[in-house]
Amino acid sequence: MAEIRTVGVCGAGLMGNGIAQTAAAAGFNVVLMEVADEPLRRGMSTITKSLDKFVEKAKLSQADRDATLARIKPTTNVSDLKDCDVVIEAIVENVDVKTKLFQQLDALLAPHAIICTNTSSLCVMELAAKTKRPNRVAGLHFFNPVPIMKLVEVVKTIATTQDVTDTLFAFARKLGKEPVLAQDTPGFIVNRLLIPYLLDAIRCLEKGIGTKEDIDSAMKLGCGYPMGPFELLDFVGLDTMYYIAQIMFDEFKDPAMAAPPLLKRMVLAGYYGRKSGKGFYDYA
Ligand code: NAI
Repeated sequence: MAEIRTVGVCGAGLMGNGIAQTAAAAGFNVVLMEVADEPLRRGMSTITKSLDKFVEKAKLSQADRDATLARIKPTTNVSDLKDCDVVIEAIVENVDVKTKLFQQLDALLAPHAIICTNTSSLCVMELAAKTKRPNRVAGLHFFNPVPIMKLVEVVKTIATTQDVTDTLFAFARKLGKEPVLAQDTPGFIVNRLLIPYLLDAIRCLEKGIGTKEDIDSAMKLGCGYPMGPFELLDFVGLDTMYYIAQIMFDEFKDPAMAAPPLLKRMVLAGYYGRKSGKGFYDYA
């Protein structure tokens, strides 16, 4: 099993900065790569604030906070990733942009290095096939917020070797996460079950089965879910939900995965959820 010492993270957005923070907190040296200075600065500032919160809550000492930050090397130069044993890509969800990065990484990294994608919806094999090391490519799917959420889906393609899967399981455990093995099909495990459920909640609202407030209360109080489906939809982002639903429907042609008309119209109106200030609920 390959040993992981240095971890590369591409993209310092919502997921990338969380992954970098988690890896550095677990003692790994981290190279955090972005396309430009501004998103890199924002990502580092988010990490600093998050670590400060752990210090405030007495869950982290000041010395460990400082040491964690010191283990992260921010860069806008892709070649700074060259000594990484594993690189986790968490950039924009676009197959062409990801492919270009995968090819750059493939040319740059040592033969033993593993390239992972944090994609939620793209086909991992499609990215792997564009490299000369498809057997050392896998999905490593984290959940938001990364420093808090326990689960990591290790996504094995039909080409990923057992050694790579074993290495990623051990790595995920060192990050303090609980890994599960998922096959490379749209949605992996969690979204395969979650997306049809959330889309169905929208269909219930369309049919007038309940108000959004009552549907949210019903699922929280009746099933013990921490958030109702509409709270969760607003949290995830309706644009993201629409995009993932389209990819899953395209692959499975299953009506349960088709985006309901209301979702499409809300996305067209720019009602993306929390991030835009309005979704099913108002956040103004
Ligand atoms: P985000 O939009 O917050 O961050 C993406 C970052 O990537 C941006 O800062 C952008 O400047 C940077 N970037 C773009 N091209 C780059 C390149 N070539 N090299 C380096 N950096 C580059 O996106 P988010 O939400 O963090 O998503 C990233 C990935 O994680 C996507 O593949 C998404 O499907 C996946 N994901 C998202 C989850 C979520 O809840 N948002 C959950 C699990 C996975």
